[in-house]
Amino acid sequence: MLEARAAVRTLHTYRPPLAGRTGLRLDFNESTVGCSPRVLDRLRMLDAEVLARYPEREPVECEVAGFLGLDSAQVLLTNGVDEAIHLLCSAYLDPGDQALIVVPTFAMYAVFVRVEGAQVVEVRAGDNFAFPEKQLLAQVNPRTRLIAVANPNNPTGAVVEGKVLIRIAQAAPQAALLVDEAYFEFCGETLMDHARQIENLFVARTFSKAYGLAGLRIGILAGDGRQMAMVRRVASPYNVNAAALAVLPGALEDQEYVRGYVARVLSNRARLQQELGALGLHYWPSHANFVLVRIGSSHGEFVQALRARGILVRDRNSDRHSDPRCEGCVRLTVGSDEHTEALIDALRDVVEQLGLRSGLPTDSRNGVGV
Ligand SMILES: Cc1ncc(COP(=O)(O)O)c(C=O)c1O
Repeated sequence: MLEARAAVRTLHTYRPPLAGRTGLRLDFNESTVGCSPRVLDRLRMLDAEVLARYPEREPVECEVAGFLGLDSAQVLLTNGVDEAIHLLCSAYLDPGDQALIVVPTFAMYAVFVRVEGAQVVEVRAGDNFAFPEKQLLAQVNPRTRLIAVANPNNPTGAVVEGKVLIRIAQAAPQAALLVDEAYFEFCGETLMDHARQIENLFVARTFSKAYGLAGLRIGILAGDGRQMAMVRRVASPYNVNAAALAVLPGALEDQEYVRGYVARVLSNRARLQQELGALGLHYWPSHANFVLVRIGSSHGEFVQALRARGILVRDRNSDRHSDPRCEGCVRLTVGSDEHTEALIDALRDVVEQLGLRSGLPTDSRNGVGV
């Protein structure tokens, strides 16, 4: 009988709750308003000839590199950040190697590490999800070949200073350090400028969030040119599809659209956090387009009650890959004014309905609830 590799047989299937997502989707940190109209114009211009051809990635890669202020040898376009993670794991991990991951975090790092037969070493974040620099450095050893950090982190919204990440890269020169900047536009903190000088640093970005293009699957992996040549060897030459490549220049050109959306999200994030505090809900101040809230044992009813009002949010408690400290937590995506208004109205109702109001406001500075 044919058997998959042991590393694959022992892997859990990661199934994000994608089915039946009708209503206001505040569950996957997507843009709630969608992409720039320029992207849609370019999509309409696609013809049979473009689709008949294998897609040519390099010219668009050059444009993206120019946009980032890097050489094209330093940039690889990927099928979302998911593929960037997969490629890094394929390029650097042998069976038995170790990968350090600060938890709780994005689930796909552990999945792709395990696919290679490598070992995931989880380093737990500190109080209020503070970045555990010391604990992480203490785990570095010659078998450490990958370190993955989402900055800002998902699902906590926490951010770590660039200088801390640089110290980590320097302390583990034998390891690829992936700094996943999927939520960069909502935060502004970046190590992209260091991708030129630090040989083992890789920076990933996505068009799935601020650019509203999750459905097209486009991401960026940037790093040292020699290392990127190694990563390119494990990528398919056609990993990014023709439609994605056709619209990407238009998406990049329309920075005004992206800036406009990000400005609304930042304002609405502050507004939502203020409201959560006023409702007495424990939340963690976020640097991304979502907020993590602790609901407690009624998290499931909370999610269902919002669903009944047409709003989808993410139950992080029931996520199979969740950290124990996400117990009772729900993640709320922040979007446009209208969508945040709808969320806040529904939250007020649901908090009342489930009797969640503690009567005391949450400390909005450090997320320490009552
Ligand atoms: C931290 C982080 N990285 C990567 C991704 C996936 O990005 P992409 O859609 O580009 O694969 C997500 C999506 O939620 C994420 O939260």
